Amino acid sequence: MRILVVGSGGREHAISWSLSRSGKHSLFCTPGNPGMAELGVLEPVKADDIAGLVTLARDRNIDLVVVGPEVPLVAGLGDALRAEGISCFGPGEKAARLEGSKWFAKEIMNSAGVSTARSKVFTDTISAMEYMGEDVKEFVLKADGLAAGKGVFLPDESDKARSILDSLFGGRFGESGQRVVIEERLKGREVSILAICSGTDCVILPPSRDHKRLGNGDSGPNTGGMGAICPPPEIEDGFCKTAREKIILPVLRELDSRGIDYRGVLYAGLMITDEGIKVLEFNVRFADPETQAVLPMIDDDLADLLDAAARGGSLPSCVSVKDGCCACVVMASGGYPLSYEKGFLISGLEKVEDAIVFHAGTKKTDDGIVTSGGRVLSVVVTGNSLSEALDKAYLELEKIDFKKKYFRRDIGRTV
Ligand code: AMP
Ligand code: GLY
Repeated sequence: MRILVVGSGGREHAISWSLSRSGKHSLFCTPGNPGMAELGVLEPVKADDIAGLVTLARDRNIDLVVVGPEVPLVAGLGDALRAEGISCFGPGEKAARLEGSKWFAKEIMNSAGVSTARSKVFTDTISAMEYMGEDVKEFVLKADGLAAGKGVFLPDESDKARSILDSLFGGRFGESGQRVVIEERLKGREVSILAICSGTDCVILPPSRDHKRLGNGDSGPNTGGMGAICPPPEIEDGFCKTAREKIILPVLRELDSRGIDYRGVLYAGLMITDEGIKVLEFNVRFADPETQAVLPMIDDDLADLLDAAARGGSLPSCVSVKDGCCACVVMASGGYPLSYEKGFLISGLEKVEDAIVFHAGTKKTDDGIVTSGGRVLSVVVTGNSLSEALDKAYLELEKIDFKKKYFRRDIGRTV
């Protein structure tokens, strides 16, 4: 097959790596990154250029397009490709509202009987504050629309809650913040699930956990993700079956009843609470950085799986998963997620022997590969146990150097 991967981050490098493992397929990546350049042909079309991507897929005779980021999906890339008869692993615009509107996701969950935090939607600060009363610590505030992962707030004081609401309604995220979903704050352990979906059928990939906070001990601001593990150690047998039957399949059936055909990955961010598993959020794409830890655990040809899903064909009941665990530690630019410098030379990549290094914010120059983003690289290792994978990942990571590098030292060791 001729496969086009859309995107340029660590997630897309991991997807490309997994798709190229069988050696059976020709890979094209757009716009890609220096890591992906070693696996396929890089193309210059940006991930949000819908018309450009359709033309590229047609010109290169692509059999399957795999879309990494949410923005083109919410903008209708899946529909635009399918309208041209090009197979796409990624849902259409209507289904992508599961990520594009938190309130739409809530409506679907409520109609489908899927367990999630109780919530209400607001369009002004006064009503929202009245709803929460004195104890804002019981609530979570979410911008309804896309906010690049920065639209969720857990304020601990009324004044903070009020100023967040004012800034959201005042246009901090444009249209995305004009509606705010306020939901009950849940307590428990978070787990991520990735389901490969083909209409009303799905197959669940092994569960994972990401570490969103910047600092050790889960301190500091939220980031795009500082590392991930697969599977989380405390997951019990039957967890994936429950997630499939109680969450993913009911959602797919609810969408189907509304005439929406879901072909792509459905990510569920879950909280395991005392009252059972509850959904925190859906995303309509592979998670980052969980994907970097999940895909190396899968032995099947990912291309066959994604191709079947994209065509609406039948899926296997399960995927073959390695024994043991996978650990992913993200190396970031010091200063991220706020301001940081770019352009620092990355040394030592060639010394890494026992890890896969997925590129994210890197750029090739005449001097070598330099940093070009907040999250720079993911160092990924599979091992017989979580501690073995983590120990090796940290050992390999020490071989890589660039100015002002930053990484968390406790990935996989806190919940
Ligand atoms: P989301 O983008 O909706 O997954 O939210 C980002 C993070 O905010 C999640 O990974 C949780 O850590 C936290 N979060 C979101 N919703 C809730 C909730 N209802 N209760 C507690 N924490 C939440
Ligand atoms: N790691 C969660 C996400 O990709 O949004």
